[in-house]
Amino acid sequence: MNSPGQKLPQIVVLDTGGQYCHLITRKIRELGVYSEIRASETPAAELAGVRGLVISGGPASVYESGSPVVDPAIFQSGAGILGICYGQQLMAYHLGGKVERGTKGEYGLARLQTTASTPLFRGAEGSQQIWMSHRDTVTAAPPGFEVTGSTGTCAVAAMADPARRLYGVQFHPEVAHTHNGKRILSNFLFDICGCRKDWDPHEQVARIEDEIRKVAGGRRVFFFVSGGVDSTVAFTLCLRALGPERVRGLYVDTGLMRAGETSFVSGVFESLGKGVFSIEHAAPRFLAALEGVSEPEQKRHIIGEKFVEVQEQILESGHYTGAEWILGQGTIYPDTIESGGTAKADLIKTHHNRVAGIQKLIDEGRIIEPLHLLYKDEVREVGAELGLPAEMLQRHPFPGPGLAIRCLCSTAEHPVQSHGGGTLARVRSVGVQGDSRSYRPVLIIEDPHGQDRATELINRYDDINRVVGLVRSAVPLEQMKVGRAVMCATRLERLRQADAIVRGISHESGFDQKVWQFPVILIPLGTEDRPDSVVLRPVDSVDGMTAQSVRIPADLQERMAAGLLALDGVCAVFCDLTHKPPGPIEWE
Ligand code: XMP
Repeated sequence: MNSPGQKLPQIVVLDTGGQYCHLITRKIRELGVYSEIRASETPAAELAGVRGLVISGGPASVYESGSPVVDPAIFQSGAGILGICYGQQLMAYHLGGKVERGTKGEYGLARLQTTASTPLFRGAEGSQQIWMSHRDTVTAAPPGFEVTGSTGTCAVAAMADPARRLYGVQFHPEVAHTHNGKRILSNFLFDICGCRKDWDPHEQVARIEDEIRKVAGGRRVFFFVSGGVDSTVAFTLCLRALGPERVRGLYVDTGLMRAGETSFVSGVFESLGKGVFSIEHAAPRFLAALEGVSEPEQKRHIIGEKFVEVQEQILESGHYTGAEWILGQGTIYPDTIESGGTAKADLIKTHHNRVAGIQKLIDEGRIIEPLHLLYKDEVREVGAELGLPAEMLQRHPFPGPGLAIRCLCSTAEHPVQSHGGGTLARVRSVGVQGDSRSYRPVLIIEDPHGQDRATELINRYDDINRVVGLVRSAVPLEQMKVGRAVMCATRLERLRQADAIVRGISHESGFDQKVWQFPVILIPLGTEDRPDSVVLRPVDSVDGMTAQSVRIPADLQERMAAGLLALDGVCAVFCDLTHKPPGPIEWE
């Protein structure tokens, strides 16, 4: 078996920027072939010996200066090469074909008609659904290539030079919307490149444990565990590899966690080994620092600072700083690949890096990251192999700053206003506008299932960035106002209870398995007696970068509303109908 990370894998995906390289790599691994990502410009000499290269699709145009390049020598290396989207254009550009800037792009579903039989399309011939996302196109295939597929708007949707084992496709075989995508990738791997299966996440446990023993040498490992899947799996692997004497996990209870979270996490960790886990009870410190605050960035800043302070104190206590200790982290593969790593990953990284004591350990190389080659779904499979409870492995992601970014505040009072699209509530939430964030009021409409209408409204009105549908309220909407509200223990507790009600119903009905994440948000909209309302935000997503608002079945929505309106201080229940973009998952 190939030893990942040590030598080159059979297939390398060359990263031309954007998210697609991760999706391609994951699909290849799913087909049983271990694959890694390298920078697109990696010299051919450093890639010698691979069976195949995939040049990924990226947002650039081959004619822009500074756009990603590949070493043209790879085309003579003898490896099978598949260029996808921008990758096909780069291939055409380097090998003497023609690429032109499209006047209008082609985005979304399209129909491919294959025009010649080629090993790449074996078993995937004829007319078929594919997924496109491009502006530029190849208008003339390079010498030696044959056009093997086209669509209504794209004459060279696929091209091939089977003698040199060079293949290009304008569409994306790695996305599920391309019906024969898996077949096409499989043909490339096994028929064209001659790969053998060498990857099964279930077989990784022994390899990772060996690696841990090697990196740790005789030293001990400590983790700041969060209760999330990654740090738990990483911790468990270290525990198995090194034994309970040499591994410690610390959990900081910030008081910003969901109901029952601390006891759930300690239950899981205590079942892993006696004395390996401890809790730093820091809730009063976090709550005192947040009391009275309302500005979103300030909330984040305070939480970040407190976290650093608590971790620093733990490190300064001298317990874990002796030469015999190294730091364990649950970093996974996308976080280690720069251009494809999510913006959030960068944020989280800088956050950790600010802890001087941790930075020192990193600088000294005293760090161990057992999951650095794995994707999230692979981490879950490893976790299952280790016997961790499904309840832990299937958990939805939960943000580090916890409930604080779901407890919205307001520094002034505003009556609700009628608006061209519905009713405007001046509770400002975060939006994604290009690369920067905006804070805008929210629009309320009557239909709690009006996702399509919401998209239209956000496109039409630029004074809003989110649309919610009213599920049920204790008083008519016109009688409600946005009240002054800050962070305080009462509101956090109200949110915690609301979250627990929704989570309970969602879990027992199985709805939580149908969504990627289901935040519950508290907004200061209501009356004197019932000053807050609750927003339900179930979303579907792959990695949190983009997300779709999910419809909640009417009966569930009703049950949730009934439970929530019975809570002290809750005036109304809404459902967030906004996709991301333009509305991020969290409201902040
Ligand atoms: P947004 O709100 O940007 O969130 O659409 C995308 C995903 O990131 C999570 N998130 C965080 N996770 N620390 C984290 O560990 C954070 O500060 C943080 N902020 C947002 C969010 O829950 C969603 O899954």
